[in-house]
Formats: sequence, structure tokens, C-alpha cells
Amino acid sequence: MKRRDFIKRGLVGGALGLISGTSYAARPTPAEIEGPFYPVYAQKDKDFDLTRIQGQAGVARGKIIIIQGRVLDREGKPVEDATVDLWQANAAGRYRHPHDPNKAPLDPNFQGWAIVPSGKDGGFRFKTVYPGTYPASDSWMRPPHIHFKISKRGYVELVTQMYFPGEALNDVDLLLRRKRIDERPLMIATRLRGEAEIYQYDVVLEKAGE
Ligand SMILES: [Fe+2]
Repeated sequence: MKRRDFIKRGLVGGALGLISGTSYAARPTPAEIEGPFYPVYAQKDKDFDLTRIQGQAGVARGKIIIIQGRVLDREGKPVEDATVDLWQANAAGRYRHPHDPNKAPLDPNFQGWAIVPSGKDGGFRFKTVYPGTYPASDSWMRPPHIHFKISKRGYVELVTQMYFPGEALNDVDLLLRRKRIDERPLMIATRLRGEAEIYQYDVVLEKAGE
């Protein structure tokens, strides 16, 4: 075989490897349990701003933050018009849910739940408050987290939880700790530099039947 042909074949092989090899594809965001507090009360206002409720003058208590991210497929292509459904505890660690046993106060101005579509670039963005910690049992304190349910026809529905960087409770959380070491970073948002509290959280969906 001529050297030139050899190189050509090598390149072709490499390119095919790139297309078919899973090591080049983005890893899907790990799933996590939905937990017991998926919202059950009917709620009209489910927009991207969780710090205010339509028709009310007040603002939610706590540190206001922005979460932004993109919904991607395993090739890194944006997934447009995915349904990004998220819910979380308020700044005191309380869910607006009849079965939440936490005695921490409800916040009448905290929306707590949002359903937003991803845009053309797969992007989503919402404004909320930094979620509080809460006891899941006598000996288990949940780290701050946001629950997500992300769906789009043709993809496997992703139910997961997003964590915050630098939280000591992350290391001892009974759920997050069960994940492999290399999976955990996929579930922890990245804090962007700058004055505002902006967190980046990209999620990767698997195609149905993959
Ligand atoms: Fe939770």
C-alpha cells in the first residue's frame, strides 16, 4: 500500500470512529429520582421568573440567582422547544406541597415552579432564589438543589436534580453520593464569573431508542 493511501484510509477510519464511537458523544445527564414534592396545586403563573407571582407586588425572599443552560442531544446539537419543567424549595428550604413536613415558612411571593420551553439554540433561562437546605431525615440534610423534568418528543424524558458548586453538603448527600465520581460534575451547575449570580447548567438528552 502506498503511504498516501495508507494515510487516506487512516483518515477515513478516524472519521468513522468519530461518528460511530460513543467516546466522542456527549454523556447524557444522569437521571435522579423525582422526589415526593412535584407540585400538585394548580398554579397559573409558571413563567421563567420565580421571584414574583403575577398579580402580587412582593418579591420572593432569599438570594436572587439566574440559572441558564442549553438542552442538547448527544452530538451537541441544540434541542429546540423541549419542555423544561422545574421546581424547588424556597430560600428557607420549604416546598409548597401538602406532604412537605418541614416547619420552615412558606413564602407567599415565591413561585416555586416553572415550565419553560427551550429556544432555537436549545437555551433556557430563569430567575429564582437560591434554594434552602432541608432535612430529608433526622440524619440527612439535602444540599441546595433544583428538580428538573425535561421532555421532548423523540427523546427519553430526563428527570434529575441540579446541584450548586462549592456546597459541602454535596459530598455527603445520600443521592448525589450514589452517583459515580465522573457523573457528579454533570449534575452540578457552574458558577459564571461576574457580579450577578449566574449559574450555567447544560443538559444532554438521549434520543428515544438509542
Ligand atoms: Fe428536593
